[in-house]
Amino acid sequence: MRSLSGIKPTGDLHLGNYFAAMKQHIELQDECEGFYFIANYHSLTTVKDADYLRQLTLNVALDYLAMGLDPARACLFRQSDVPEVTELSWILGCVTGKGLMDRATTYKDHVAKGIVPNMGVYCYPLLMAADILIYRSNIVPVGKDQVQHIEFTQDMAGYFNQTYREVFTRPEARLNETPVVPGIDGQKMSKSYGNFIELFGDPKAVRKKIMAIKTDSTPVEEPKNPETCNVFALLKLMATPEETAAWAQRYRAGGMGYGEAKKRLAELYEERFGPRREARARWAARPDDVEDILRTGARKARAVAQAVMADVRAACGIVTAPSL
Ligand code: ADP
Ligand code: TRP
Repeated sequence: MRSLSGIKPTGDLHLGNYFAAMKQHIELQDECEGFYFIANYHSLTTVKDADYLRQLTLNVALDYLAMGLDPARACLFRQSDVPEVTELSWILGCVTGKGLMDRATTYKDHVAKGIVPNMGVYCYPLLMAADILIYRSNIVPVGKDQVQHIEFTQDMAGYFNQTYREVFTRPEARLNETPVVPGIDGQKMSKSYGNFIELFGDPKAVRKKIMAIKTDSTPVEEPKNPETCNVFALLKLMATPEETAAWAQRYRAGGMGYGEAKKRLAELYEERFGPRREARARWAARPDDVEDILRTGARKARAVAQAVMADVRAACGIVTAPSL
């Protein structure tokens, strides 16, 4: 069983990225053959500064390693070290109707907001499908907002297989128990909404953000509903089930201010991510080792991708000279 996923290097990783995606990637390394990559081609749709993209790409590698991805068990690599994915995305585009791309939510969101999308945004699902299919991935652990892309990938695998012959495996999305993590304003936590809590933020700044999480104005003495509270939603991600149940009871009993829950959340954040911040600094001091890990990962991933591409080219009649 192969699990594959990617994270786009477009900014600092936040709790939404971690709890919905990266945490599962790391947990799955025990059960599955893991292929995890840094989706730097995808970032080109928005990041236009070369030095910044190089830095963000390295940052995602450091984040994965600091959070416990074990390169001996899972394969960590840069998307661009397997350039065959861009070739596959072209081929998939030739069996996919334009109507499917027109239905992509990311593209539709751009149009709805009056932003003129570049062709990278429009064709994004083709490249993502290529990422998944080129490794014959079985499961794709992602957050809820990516599920449509996995459904498109299933469709595209079907279009190719029907047009030519059975080459691709059908992948399935894997969601964790927290498909959407709210930000400090209650909307989906996102880099683009500025409502995020970083994984490796400055401890004081993060504490300030936590203390500023939006809550309702129920007075301290009154009972409160944990299910609609943003602080509780984040607390639940970090506390043990017993502690979560105890907080839920305190909410419902009344006599508790949101400030208390926020303080505990700040502590839990620090307990969980403080040691990881140090681990990250240690990896950051070893850039050559990180590069070695990425190269070893890419070598393994590329071997799989090249074999699948040979099959794809043969199936659709694309001839390339064996060695030029
Ligand atoms: P952002 O919305 O901050 O730009 P990305 O689109 O780069 O985040 O998402 C990277 C991964 O993290 C995806 O698998 C996505 O589903 C997941 N993810 C991001 N934000 C959230 C969130 N608030 N809740 C759940 N999953 C999220
Ligand atoms: N689109 C994903 C995101 O925004 C990143 C991504 C690119 C990805 N290729 C992928 C995720 C392949 C899973 C599988 O988060």
